[in-house]
Amino acid sequence: MSQYTTVTQVKTKTIIDLQKMKQSGQKITSLTAYDATFAALIDRAGIDVLLVGDSLGMVVQGHSSTLPVSMQDMLYHTQIVSRGSQQAFIIADLPFMSNATPIQAAQNAALLIQQGGAKMVKLEGARIENIEFMVRQGIPVCAHLGLLPQSIYQLGKYAVQGKDANAAENILADALQVEQAGAQVLILECVPAALAQQISAQLSIPVIGIGAGVDCDGQVLVVYDMLGISLGKIPRFTKNYMQQVDSIFEAIQAYVQEVKECQFPLAEHSF
Ligand code: KIV
Repeated sequence: MSQYTTVTQVKTKTIIDLQKMKQSGQKITSLTAYDATFAALIDRAGIDVLLVGDSLGMVVQGHSSTLPVSMQDMLYHTQIVSRGSQQAFIIADLPFMSNATPIQAAQNAALLIQQGGAKMVKLEGARIENIEFMVRQGIPVCAHLGLLPQSIYQLGKYAVQGKDANAAENILADALQVEQAGAQVLILECVPAALAQQISAQLSIPVIGIGAGVDCDGQVLVVYDMLGISLGKIPRFTKNYMQQVDSIFEAIQAYVQEVKECQFPLAEHSF
């Protein structure tokens, strides 16, 4: 067979691959992506999950929060990330007020999946009714607990959540409830490492942490943060991977390797 007739089949990751990784103790790697070029680079570096996060409102659009991000924005960015990606599992965010009711959540999730190419949608908070309704329609759901950026005006500041015993118990209870409601992945943001360890051990679904310590089943970072190019304050839980290498591709490869080998996050990146 000549080189012109050889077709390289790239297998796209599925939820089954992520479940198997949790069961076998292999760490899941994830980064955000907002466009086709970055998606392609990150995908080729072997990342497991591409997250089209509504953090794009801050790092791409220059807003001071994620609240202005619209469904139209999310759909556009999910489409262009899908175009650049080959093997990674794509999760797309339901932005602020796009999932106020179960029907609204399901309709917007359907857009991100049918027109955007996402394999799963993520929503912030323990919105049990919305999760149950979407799951009943066959929509794969990722829940997001801990620090909820879409609630920034209620919270007042971006801060570690679940620090006292009562708050930690509530987050654990929410985590158990979202799993029970049918969520197949949980993202835990900015919680004490000990709490994240407990939640990851108690849940059978993969738990991907950001600022949640090394004992989660996987790690996610905002790609511009780990490349050291985000405007404003870089959170303590991230690491600038461009300091050790000469190219973006190598920086992403280094991140993938460190997550897989439990060398990231260290105590200095955790709470
Ligand atoms: O929008 C985003 O990038 C996220 C991550 C911070 C988990 O939700």
